[in-house]
Amino acid sequence: MSVIQRIGVIGAGTMGRGIIQLFAQAGYEVRCYDAAEGATRKAVDFVAEMIERAVARGRYSQADGAAIVARMSACERLEQLEGCELVIEAVVEDLAVKRDLFSALEDILADTAILASNTSSLMIADIAAGCRRPERVAGLHFFNPVPLMKVAEVIAAVRTSPATVAALQALIEHSGHRAVVAADQPGFLVNHAGRGLYTEGLRILEECVASAADIDTLMREAAGFRMGPFELLDLTGLDVSGKVMESIYQQFHQEPRFRPSSLVAPRIAAGLFGRKTGEGWYRYVGNDKQQNPSSTVPTLRRETPVWVDPAADEHARLCGLVLEAGMDLVQDAAKAELLLVQFWGIDLSRYCARHGLDARRAVAIDPLPGLDRHRTLMISTATSGLARDAAWALLGQGDMTVSIINDSCGFVVQRVLATIVNIAADIAQRGIASVADIEDAVRLGLGYPQGPLSLGDAVGGERILSILEQMHTLSGDPRYRPSPWLARRVALGLPLLSPEAARV
Ligand code: NAI
Repeated sequence: MSVIQRIGVIGAGTMGRGIIQLFAQAGYEVRCYDAAEGATRKAVDFVAEMIERAVARGRYSQADGAAIVARMSACERLEQLEGCELVIEAVVEDLAVKRDLFSALEDILADTAILASNTSSLMIADIAAGCRRPERVAGLHFFNPVPLMKVAEVIAAVRTSPATVAALQALIEHSGHRAVVAADQPGFLVNHAGRGLYTEGLRILEECVASAADIDTLMREAAGFRMGPFELLDLTGLDVSGKVMESIYQQFHQEPRFRPSSLVAPRIAAGLFGRKTGEGWYRYVGNDKQQNPSSTVPTLRRETPVWVDPAADEHARLCGLVLEAGMDLVQDAAKAELLLVQFWGIDLSRYCARHGLDARRAVAIDPLPGLDRHRTLMISTATSGLARDAAWALLGQGDMTVSIINDSCGFVVQRVLATIVNIAADIAQRGIASVADIEDAVRLGLGYPQGPLSLGDAVGGERILSILEQMHTLSGDPRYRPSPWLARRVALGLPLLSPEAARV
């Protein structure tokens, strides 16, 4: 395995600067080159300032800070990268530019040197195709801001040698980041795994199940995500994310799981990109997201007769809640003004039809994730205002917050989680990455509260499979067809995170 000591970084923009900082801090000699006049010097000065600040905060001693700065140098010509064992390019996202650059580098560097690209959307094999030694070409995909996003994807293209992959993995781990290895497939690992949150969030909005703000609230408050899909789209910019959604869908030959939404194009045309244009799914004043006024919880009418479906997951807790609220718990559904039901994967209309319940009085409560957090109530087109308000007043007591959604197979959180798990399962099925790498890449690269397969295990693999199967059957949409990886594990009664006992 080649030992890397000197690293060249080409492109001194947003990503290049972060990459220089990461490796200089980790003890490597870093040479930086940029085609734009003065850009290289500016980048090195920028990183030096970051290090000075870290010294002022006490993170480094004066001597260590000075040593980090001394390890960085600005090159005026590409030829000055001669002697580097690794060169990483972070130049403009243009295949021809990257190919030309790598081909010029092959004449400058030793035959053993590794060439890595930080591209997010181009195929590594395409970039390597112009090289004489494609086995030494790989992807090395960082996330912005590089020093803080503690993961990097090592992309093994079809001709990349295992030794090249191993050298990059060792380098990344030595620099304090987690190296995950992914195949040269659209979106690599992190951007591929991240499809579920956006596409399913948009699909739920398209179906008028809930507002963008409610979907975000549910993903944050009920599912524990840092941000919901629409907050994330506003952060990255719909102009950028819209293109990624479209390109991954096309690159996977119109795989229905990645189908983008028709809601996006009109918003891009209208300039509703998100934070950078001051308006996206939300309005911003400066950096502050403007909140919609929250609606007032209706007054609880004591003595309202309430029936709790004996099949409800939380039957005992719901009955307790009804009694504590001073409502009248009745055993006969015919005598109740409110019928409380719970289910997985289907919608309220079909639940009522299947079980012979009066839909005008029925309200469903998402059994996920338990009574102690934000709750989702589902109503159907038949549900009366009286029944809706009675359920809202009951569930919205004290500190508990409530979102009311329209009929939807699998509520909101069930749908989104099942989609995320299914896409991760299919990444494993396709051998794009190992289970351990999928888990860590999603946690560190996307900031989800857990890896996707752990999320699946927390709900239960069998339950996730059943949600998907029901959504698939009831909607007829192939985007919900379960991955064989998931279906087989469930068939064998194995947890999603269980190790592979044997594999061909
Ligand atoms: P940027 O626009 O901030 O910087 C690009 C730099 O490359 C500029 O300073 C430009 O002068 C220089 N450059 C362009 N052509 C060059 C050439 N032929 N030789 C030398 N220098 C050249 O771009 P950014 O955002 O840093 O992106 C760079 C790469 O990293 C792209 O491939 C992008 O897709 C990828 N990437 C970007 C991420 C982001 O969040 N910005 C995240 C992950 C990957």
